[in-house]
Amino acid sequence: MMQGKRVLLIIGGGIAAFKSLDLIRRLKERGVAVTPVLTRAAEEFVTPLSVSALAGEKCYRDLFDLTDEAEMGHIQLSRVADLVVVAPATADLMAKMAQGLAGDLASTLLLATDTPVLVAPAMNVRMWEHAATQRNIQTLQGDGVLFVGPNEGDMACGEHGPGRLSEPLEIVAAIEAAFGTGPLASKRVLVTSGPTHEPIDPVRYIANRSSGSQGTAIAQALMRQGAEVVFVTGPADAARPQGAQIVEVQTAREMLEAAQAALPVDAAICAAAVADWHVIGASDQKLKKSKDGTPALEFGENPDILKTIANHQTARPTLVVGFAAETNDVIDNATAKRLRKGCDWIVANDVRPETGIMGGDENAVTLISAEGADTWPRMSKTDVARRLATAVSDALTKASQT
Ligand code: CTP
Repeated sequence: MMQGKRVLLIIGGGIAAFKSLDLIRRLKERGVAVTPVLTRAAEEFVTPLSVSALAGEKCYRDLFDLTDEAEMGHIQLSRVADLVVVAPATADLMAKMAQGLAGDLASTLLLATDTPVLVAPAMNVRMWEHAATQRNIQTLQGDGVLFVGPNEGDMACGEHGPGRLSEPLEIVAAIEAAFGTGPLASKRVLVTSGPTHEPIDPVRYIANRSSGSQGTAIAQALMRQGAEVVFVTGPADAARPQGAQIVEVQTAREMLEAAQAALPVDAAICAAAVADWHVIGASDQKLKKSKDGTPALEFGENPDILKTIANHQTARPTLVVGFAAETNDVIDNATAKRLRKGCDWIVANDVRPETGIMGGDENAVTLISAEGADTWPRMSKTDVARRLATAVSDALTKASQT
């Protein structure tokens, strides 16, 4: 429940500023009080009147406004809320935050505040990807600033890529998670993700094409609902989910060890594409070509992490979820896999190349449980993650009531 909380909302100057009006409305609906602050640039996009009418409160704009200072000094204003939210956060505002500049009201409040800060960036994709912006993000993350988004998609400037402001409801969910009041608050979830690398020698390994993007999206969606996430990942290309406890591993055997060390958890989501085999007696020196022919590699079976957790004698999580990437008889194979592994749900998908799912941004999944198969429409991997996180929180809530 967010009822009774207060957000200091700093609205930066970008085309996405119009979404802040909807954000205010959504927060007010949930009983959250909003103290709005507009930067000078933001006033080009939304008016102080519309912002303060929706918030039902005074909209602060100027650092050196004597009336404001008489009513509430800027230091006091920076401390009125349970959370400071910057939405949209422009590249300029984030650069000021990273540098500790305090030349206007918004940046002064951000420097003076002692409450947690959540940033929802919005900018052109090139600005987002610029080394300077990425450096600033790293600095801010290091300072403990929380982030939501940006999302990927078509932008007002006509370009495509990361930089879109998160949707108001996504920002609300991130605010809820920051308050520690989401439906998964106080729940601990293990997520395995990415491929594993199985060494042949110090420079060669056996791997697979998993990017880890679905696992990262799932971890992010779970955290948005308030979960504490332990993210055990192989060497994946995808960005790591900020705010999760990240455990980096290489091999399936290391992944099992890390997953077991994370127990007890309320739920385990095994999204990793784990290699089924490792090379027995991998060489500790680089293998050389030899006149005697090619090296004969001998394989040993890897431990099954999902199966081990699902059949754990002392610390089986309330909910254990596996994935099944199939190329034929998807539902039949996944249904059999659920029973074989002993898990509660299997998220099955058809990864034939013509579906474009492997390595793509979208996924089409069927959730297999003891109740049967529920096929979801094709949607982005982020939306699959969000829907799965909601299903996980519903299941954990139900389990805690029985
Ligand atoms: N999995 C695991 N540990 C393994 C192999 C798989 O935890 N050693 C998990 C995966 O993370 C996934 C699920 O099991 O959630 C299914 O993976 P998949 O590779 O489809 O299963 P396999 O048992 O390898 O089945 P198949 O014979 O179809 O390869």
